[in-house]
Amino acid sequence: MLQIAAIAALALLPAVQGAPATSASSNSVHKRCGTVSQYYNQQATDWDTYKTGDWLNDWWNSNGDLMSKNTAGFAGAFGQWAIGNPDWTCRDDGSSSDCDLNLCDNRVLNDRGDDIRPTYYVLESVNRLHSYFTGVGQAFSTAALGAALSKDQWATTFYKDKDDKDATVLKEVLNAVVTIIGIGASFAGLGGGEVVGAFAGAGAALAGGANGAASIVLGTHKDDTFQKSADLGGILGTIVVDSLKSFTTANNELMAGKSYGNADIRSYISHGAFLDFPGVDKNAVTDSMTNMLVGTAINTLYRQQKIFVMGGGACNDNQGIGSGPQDAVVCRDGKAWYLYYWQENDVISTTSHQWGWVASPPGADKLGSNEYSGVSVQDIINSSLDAYNVAGYNYNADTAKARAEDAISNAWASPGAKGAAWEGIFTIPVCDVGAAVNADYQDKQYILQPYGHDSRPVWCGPICGGDLQKTKDFIHAANMDGFQSPKHLCNSSPGY
Ligand SMILES: *[C@@H]1O[C@H](CO)[C@@H](O)[C@H](O)[C@H]1NC(C)=O
Repeated sequence: MLQIAAIAALALLPAVQGAPATSASSNSVHKRCGTVSQYYNQQATDWDTYKTGDWLNDWWNSNGDLMSKNTAGFAGAFGQWAIGNPDWTCRDDGSSSDCDLNLCDNRVLNDRGDDIRPTYYVLESVNRLHSYFTGVGQAFSTAALGAALSKDQWATTFYKDKDDKDATVLKEVLNAVVTIIGIGASFAGLGGGEVVGAFAGAGAALAGGANGAASIVLGTHKDDTFQKSADLGGILGTIVVDSLKSFTTANNELMAGKSYGNADIRSYISHGAFLDFPGVDKNAVTDSMTNMLVGTAINTLYRQQKIFVMGGGACNDNQGIGSGPQDAVVCRDGKAWYLYYWQENDVISTTSHQWGWVASPPGADKLGSNEYSGVSVQDIINSSLDAYNVAGYNYNADTAKARAEDAISNAWASPGAKGAAWEGIFTIPVCDVGAAVNADYQDKQYILQPYGHDSRPVWCGPICGGDLQKTKDFIHAANMDGFQSPKHLCNSSPGY
């Protein structure tokens, strides 16, 4: 069962998006096009002002015969009635012209008297809903995502740990991808820009709908496991592309006049939600989705290694708890946060190097440029911090879905615009060592260390929040259970 019916909820929301319609030209150009040109430059609010919903209901109820006789159902019947074109199917079946509006001097339309305005509004709305679906389709295409995601060096670039866990169930990752698809679809509905007022509500419905669509696709993938050498990006890309088929189905059912989920096209276009929809900014949607998916793939590999975010002291440090790597810092709200990787020694050694050292995570040097230009170390830190502040070490796929829909519907963020920096794209475990400034842990001047072959942090206390349980949870989340290196110098066990 597809849940895309949630899109219908947008019908309940007044869309007051102010962007000017892009397909309508100025009045003067259309003077010669007949009466219909008086109604060009329409705005979403015009739909309700001129009671278009009631008008469409009347039309629908009076033209059942026309709809059932036309093989294209509603769209074909409306096209025939409104513009004399029974082939106005607005289907997604490869045709690039089956939803075109050539209204200028259209005799059928211009002879409709009082019905011209509402007829025109319905034509525009149906046409733009169709352009939403085709735009999403193009943004989700294999070609657009394939190049960015289908790399076979994912694992060798971003994974280095010596213990080779050979297979990992992808379920949680795939569930996160469902949310990304939802974000992409709603971002497309928002025209690729910032959150736009009340239209944000429609975006949330779109996100919910896309989540449902992608969930269906997941059904066939959820048992996938991947070797770290396998094509993780390829799997992620396939799911996005597969979910596209659900959008095609949604378009075709709605255009035919059928209910999709439990609402028909009248709900989707009601209140002018698509009356002045400016179109999908495909590049923005593709870039945003690609960056989120690349981030998700990297996060998956990082979450299997001793990689963490540590900080919470003053920017520029100098508080007696050491100092972190200045090339991997985010300073926010007066606090410095660093991205760390505790690299284990890869040769047998009796020197202190046997305890490993802290370094930049594998592949981090590749971020921020070329093929990984859309993901930066700062994105990883910001996204992980935001996720941690919301759900500690338990930011899972359900959290991701709920938060994205909430952000869009309540307009406190545009997840699509944030790309890889959006919360929860990265969930690298965070340890806030700020409380150590006023604690007397042994050797606390080595809690934070810069990167380097001779850099080994010393953690002789409940360093995370000054709280032993938190510290244990952090150690566990960062794959450091039983790892002796950070505590081998402690005179007594720190308890984690
Ligand atoms: C990270 O967050 C800080 C503080 O909110 C912000 O100034 C910075 O631009 C963010 N960095 C990125 C890459 O989003």
